[in-house]
Amino acid sequence: MVKLLKALPCYFGGKQKLLSAIFSQMPLPGPGWMPVLVDAFLGGGSVSLFGKAKGYQVLCNDISARSEVIGRALIENSRVRLDDMDMHRLLMQNEYSFVRANFANLFTPEDAETLDTMLGNIKELSELAVQWHPRSTRVMLWRLVVILYIVRYRKYGDFGNEGIYQPLVGRYNAQIKKSHYESVKRICTPPLRKLQHVFEAINGGIFSNGLDNRFFKMDVLDFLSQVTGDIVYFDPPYYGCDSYENKYNVLDSILAGQLVEEQPSKFNQNGALDMLREMLRAAAWSPLWIISYGGPKVTAQDLGAIVAEFRPATITELKYKYNFGNEADTDARRTEMLIVGRRG
Ligand SMILES: C[S@@+](CC[C@H](N)C(=O)[O-])C[C@H]1O[C@@H](n2cnc3c(N)ncnc32)[C@H](O)[C@@H]1O
Repeated sequence: MVKLLKALPCYFGGKQKLLSAIFSQMPLPGPGWMPVLVDAFLGGGSVSLFGKAKGYQVLCNDISARSEVIGRALIENSRVRLDDMDMHRLLMQNEYSFVRANFANLFTPEDAETLDTMLGNIKELSELAVQWHPRSTRVMLWRLVVILYIVRYRKYGDFGNEGIYQPLVGRYNAQIKKSHYESVKRICTPPLRKLQHVFEAINGGIFSNGLDNRFFKMDVLDFLSQVTGDIVYFDPPYYGCDSYENKYNVLDSILAGQLVEEQPSKFNQNGALDMLREMLRAAAWSPLWIISYGGPKVTAQDLGAIVAEFRPATITELKYKYNFGNEADTDARRTEMLIVGRRG
C-alpha cells in the first residue's frame, strides 16, 4: 500500500497518515458487494487511491486542474503506464520557457529547463495528435510527471520556501544554511534521476480493481447532485486556513501555461459554515457521511452541531500535526476531527 501512495504528490491537507482512521469507519467490501465510495474533494488523491486498492468503486471529484490530473491518471486509469518512449517524448528539445520566464527564483536552472522542456512537449504533442488530446490518459500521466517532478523534491511539497532556492539559482559557492542541507540535497538530484524515480513512483500506483472508477471536475454541489453511492467522504478546505488556490498558485500557473489569478474556494471564505450545510444537504442520499475537518476557526462542537441538524453524529478528535514547507502548524489548527453521520 505504501508503494501505491508514492504515486501521489505530497498534498497540503492530504490524508495519507489518517487513512486507517478514516477507513475504519467504512463498511468493508465483500464477496459480491463493492460499495461505492464518493470522495467529494479528491485533492492529492490519497483516500480515493486507497479506496480503489481496497476494492471500493470510487467516484471522486475536485474543482482544480491539479487534482484532475490525479483523478484521471491514477483513479480512472487502470492500465496505461509510462515507458521509455514517454521519457523520450517529454525530453525532446524545444523553445518553451514559461517556467524560466516566471518562476526562475523557485527552481534550480536545471529543473526550470527540464520542466520547460517537458511542458513544451506536452503542449505540442497534445495539439498534434488526436490520441494525445489534452484530457487523454497519456497526457494526464505526462502532467502527473510534471507535478511530481515539482513537488516530490521540495520538503512537504511547499512552494513558498524561496529562501532555499535562491542561493541555488546562481549556484557556485552558494551559502546554504545548515538547516536547509537536506532539502538542498534533494533538490540537487540530477534531473534524469528525478525523472526515473517519478516514472517508477507513478507506475507503482497504476492498477485495476475491476471496477469503473470515475473522476469529475465540478463544484462539489453540482457533483453531489449527479452521483449516488454508499459512503461519502468529505474533506473540504478548512475555514481559517490558507486556500488551495493560494498555496498552489505556482503549480496551477505552470499547469495552465499562464499566470492564474487566485480565486479562493467558498469553503475558505465567510459563509463557509453555510457552504458546509449546503454540501450535507446535497448528499442527503448517502446512508453514511465521513467528514474530515479542522482549522483554527471551527470547533468540534460547531461542526458536530451542523451535522446534527441533519442526522446523528459522532465526533473523534485525532491528534495530528500537518506540515507544509517550513510552516509550523498552529495549536488551533492541530486539531483534526473525524465526524461520522449515519442516517437513522
Ligand atoms: C483538503 S483537500 C482534499 C485532500 C484529500 N482528501 C487528500 O487526501 O489529498 C480539499 C480539496 O478541495 C478542493 N475544492 C475546493 N473548493 C471546492 C469546491 N467548491 N468544489 C470541489 N472541490 C473543491 C480543492 O481543490 C482541494 O483539492
